[in-house]
Amino acid sequence: MITALNTQFGINGQLTFVEDASGLVVAQIDNALCRASLCLQGAHLMSWQPESQTVPVVWLSRDTKPAAGKSIRGGAPVCWPWFGAHASDSAFPGHGFARTVPWRVIESGTEPDGATRLTLRLVPSDKTRMQWPHDCNLDLTVIAGETLRMELSTENTGASDFVIGEALHTYLQIGDIGAVRVTGLEGCEYWDKVGGSNLRRQDGDIVFSGETDRVYVNTAAQCVIHDDKLKRRIYIAKSGSLSTVVWTPWIEKANKMGDMGQPDGWREMVCIESVNALENVVTVAAGARHTMIVEYRAESV
Ligand code: BG6
Repeated sequence: MITALNTQFGINGQLTFVEDASGLVVAQIDNALCRASLCLQGAHLMSWQPESQTVPVVWLSRDTKPAAGKSIRGGAPVCWPWFGAHASDSAFPGHGFARTVPWRVIESGTEPDGATRLTLRLVPSDKTRMQWPHDCNLDLTVIAGETLRMELSTENTGASDFVIGEALHTYLQIGDIGAVRVTGLEGCEYWDKVGGSNLRRQDGDIVFSGETDRVYVNTAAQCVIHDDKLKRRIYIAKSGSLSTVVWTPWIEKANKMGDMGQPDGWREMVCIESVNALENVVTVAAGARHTMIVEYRAESV
């Protein structure tokens, strides 16, 4: 399989497929602009570090143990076709099944600026059809260069409309959770998931002093992480997404999760997730396509 993948989709010295210790296949990107890796299970981007940065921009837990059927902690999990808990069946996985099932490579190439492009398509199975009986193609295109661009595209190939929730649940690497602020969501309404589910309005910048789990709704705004410790800003710009989730587990929840990178890995990440959830779930008409695009960029200051 590895040989076939490298023959068909590998790009000399720039894109290589390897099998990791757990038997999962990982696409490794190493071009003049960045280094990145993406696990074929879940189409899960695991790392991205542009040449201009000495520290990765995407955070991956040092405690994550990639395994078949299990989500990787960190990177950019693809949540689809629902976000959070399933609306009616608690036996179905949180954040949907896309992040734990196999995807296959359908295209690769080099962009004019030297960035590497890779497109994966989710492989449906009896198990996924049981949870999601609709005919569709779900593709993720990753373009890894000095910026990171991710395009999640849902094509309805069936005869009736369906509704999806989705997220690119990206973990960003920061110096310390107590020393960052996030701008872009001032004045937006959000559902606060800590201690119930209350609708609130964002007043000023977001700063962190405890568990934070918020679904900002009706916003297409660009977010910026201002990181005083690493002396950089991370820009997250999006289209086709009207919700933004801001999440950090803080110490107690991180300890319970057990895979956040002991002892204090949780302090070095924050999730700024580009999402369609709650009132922003998307109806994809029969024959139509919906695409969510997110672009990440880091700038030293
Ligand atoms: C966030 C949710 O998107 O993902 C949180 O808002 C959740 O409630 C977090 O805890 C992590 O989810 P998981 O399933 O990857 O542990």
